[in-house]
Amino acid sequence: MCFTNKLPVSMESMLVLLFLTISFSSAADNISTNNSLSGDETIISKGEIFEFGFFKAGNSSNYFIGIWYKKYSSNPPTVVWIANRETPVSDRFSSELKFIDGNLVLLNESKLPIWSTKVTSTTSLNSAVAVILDNGNLVVRNGLNSVEHIWQSFDHPAHTWLPGAKFAYNKRTNKSQLLTSWKSRDDPGVGLFSSEVHPFRIMVVSKCNRSQQYWDPGSWDPLMDNDFYKYNYQTNENESYFTYYAYDPSTVCRFIMDVDGQFQLQTWSESTKQWNIIWAQPETQCKVYALCGAFSTCRETGLSLCNCLTGFQPRSESNWNQSDFSGGCVRKTNLICGRNMEKLDFVMVQVTSPPPSSSVSIGSAGECRNACLKDCSCNAYSFVGRNCSVWNGELLNLSEDKTNGKTMYVKVSSEDLPSHKKNSRVATMVIVVASVGGLLLVLGLVVLTIYMKKRRLAGKTTMEGSLVAFVYKDLQTATKNFSDKLGGGGFGSVFKGVLRDTSIVAVKKTRKCQPRR
Ligand SMILES: *[C@@H]1O[C@H](CO)[C@@H](O)[C@H](O)[C@H]1NC(C)=O
Ligand SMILES: *[C@@H]1O[C@H](CO)[C@@H](O)[C@H](O)[C@H]1NC(C)=O
Ligand SMILES: *[C@@H]1O[C@H](CO)[C@@H](O)[C@H](O)[C@H]1NC(C)=O
Ligand SMILES: *[C@@H]1O[C@H](CO)[C@@H](O)[C@H](O)[C@H]1NC(C)=O
Ligand SMILES: *[C@@H]1O[C@H](CO)[C@@H](O)[C@H](O)[C@H]1NC(C)=O
Ligand SMILES: *[C@@H]1O[C@H](CO)[C@@H](O)[C@H](O)[C@H]1NC(C)=O
Ligand SMILES: *[C@@H]1O[C@H](CO)[C@@H](O)[C@H](O)[C@H]1NC(C)=O
Ligand SMILES: *[C@@H]1O[C@H](CO)[C@@H](O)[C@H](O)[C@H]1NC(C)=O
Ligand SMILES: *[C@@H]1O[C@H](CO)[C@@H](O)[C@H](O)[C@H]1NC(C)=O
Ligand SMILES: *[C@@H]1O[C@H](CO)[C@@H](O)[C@H](O)[C@H]1NC(C)=O
Repeated sequence: MCFTNKLPVSMESMLVLLFLTISFSSAADNISTNNSLSGDETIISKGEIFEFGFFKAGNSSNYFIGIWYKKYSSNPPTVVWIANRETPVSDRFSSELKFIDGNLVLLNESKLPIWSTKVTSTTSLNSAVAVILDNGNLVVRNGLNSVEHIWQSFDHPAHTWLPGAKFAYNKRTNKSQLLTSWKSRDDPGVGLFSSEVHPFRIMVVSKCNRSQQYWDPGSWDPLMDNDFYKYNYQTNENESYFTYYAYDPSTVCRFIMDVDGQFQLQTWSESTKQWNIIWAQPETQCKVYALCGAFSTCRETGLSLCNCLTGFQPRSESNWNQSDFSGGCVRKTNLICGRNMEKLDFVMVQVTSPPPSSSVSIGSAGECRNACLKDCSCNAYSFVGRNCSVWNGELLNLSEDKTNGKTMYVKVSSEDLPSHKKNSRVATMVIVVASVGGLLLVLGLVVLTIYMKKRRLAGKTTMEGSLVAFVYKDLQTATKNFSDKLGGGGFGSVFKGVLRDTSIVAVKKTRKCQPRR
């Protein structure tokens, strides 16, 4: 076992105990059919090592019911087991964990069951009790003094494998127990990565999405036999399983399936109040299959572990900012199949081991490029030594290597390429300059035309405006050959005239624009 037997009872824990005595009537390590767990009530193992109750995951507003270390307290607490991984509650005070017909059941805010121990045969329904033990196991027993359990959390691990627990492959059902990663640091839901016991080899393997294996130790001996801990492998007609324990009982340790897909052994450092990773596989994070999601590259060095390919952006920026890369990347501009072919382009990427591709028998790089261009499902191509390879579907597990990597060309919208942006900026400027110039020219012409027209009209108006019906001769007659001058100025002279209908008019005669006779 990883834990000391001597448990110094500090003032602090006594106070906590006192507090719990007040807030939870039994200050118990158990829940019986007569009580339930709700709100901030918890039960604590006898040695005060583990605590069981509602906890909040990260910054989310979701509550889960689970087990965490009480003695080795960190902030946030280190959770080792979760009951309702996929069915969180938002109000823990109106949610309740209690026995119903011999099963431990979690009721949500609407008092509807959302999680249960699902044990079928229970003999004495009224004497069932759930006890949290000092090894972190929550057991359901039949009767207060029974030692046998009818259900235990050790049989339903989440992401943690504790010392003393079996990690097993069930030969009767052909099923492995899975340690599954959290969805993200804020979400203990079942994530993509898992570890399990191999059906017939003495080893644990890690997989992505329960199918793509990305790690196995070959044999477990070299990595398990060290100064810290000892493992045990047992196999019989029902199951094969591992157990482990630390040589030094004061060493607090745990195996976990990390959120980033690494299978890790961690030990607690009391001085720093932190967990130290003393062993992790795969050794480098980029070896975790598809860790960065689709259209994204993994790089051990640099600012960010995962980076979207050029022309792509995170599917969820907020997740990405919280180091949850599982959503991968999407094109900034969606490609619409069969349309805007001229807007397609390719971006080069150099990767350690390209994903599986299909080959096309084609003779030149240009033809290979065209083949991918024309095929809507083609996302990338490469042309190496007269071999044309194309990739359909999402590109996963890209590990960037700019010096020794293999070259792939990934289809993107040319609008999203930086070179296009630069070119288009120049082009835009040319267009703007040209248009402004053209506009000025046109405007100039228009102004000129209007001016000319105005000048012509000006003459006409003065002469013909209101007197359009008269010809010069008539005016000459009316004004008696411009004999009776009323006034004059720079514009010309005004003469008095009498029309045939005896109405008196003033006639202005300008110097410019003398009408032709
Ligand atoms: C349950 O907790 C109560 C209160 O601490 C205690 O008296 C009782 O012995 C516990 N029952 C079991 C089965 O551990
Ligand atoms: C529950 O309460 C009943 C009656 O009050 C009592 O007989 C029974 O022993 C209690 N059960 C437990 C597990 O404490
Ligand atoms: C969680 O909340 C704390 C305090 O409110 C904040 O400092 C931290 O950045 C948040 N973490 C994330 C991942 O949002
Ligand atoms: C409680 O659970 C039921 C069944 O899953 C669900 O339909 C209901 O919406 C839940 N209630 C709340 C308040 O979440
Ligand atoms: C389990 O696997 C064995 C051998 O592959 C097979 O014979 C058996 O039928 C399987 N059992 C179940 C329940 O699938
Ligand atoms: C996981 O596998 C299932 C099919 O087994 C598939 O439908 C799903 O898209 C996969 N998820 C991811 C993230 O690859
Ligand atoms: C295997 O399971 C059967 C039925 O549950 C049981 O009788 C038998 O003892 C088990 N064998 C071992 C080695 O545990
Ligand atoms: C995934 O990428 C890693 C790192 O390049 C590589 O070692 C591994 O073989 C790749 N996995 C598969 C299944 O291609
Ligand atoms: C993510 O981080 C970037 C850079 O730090 C920031 O500009 C952006 O607003 C963040 N997005 C979200 C959704 O938090
Ligand atoms: C091209 O493909 C052939 C057949 O698949 C293979 O033998 C050859 O090594 C490949 N050449 C290069 C340069 O990858």
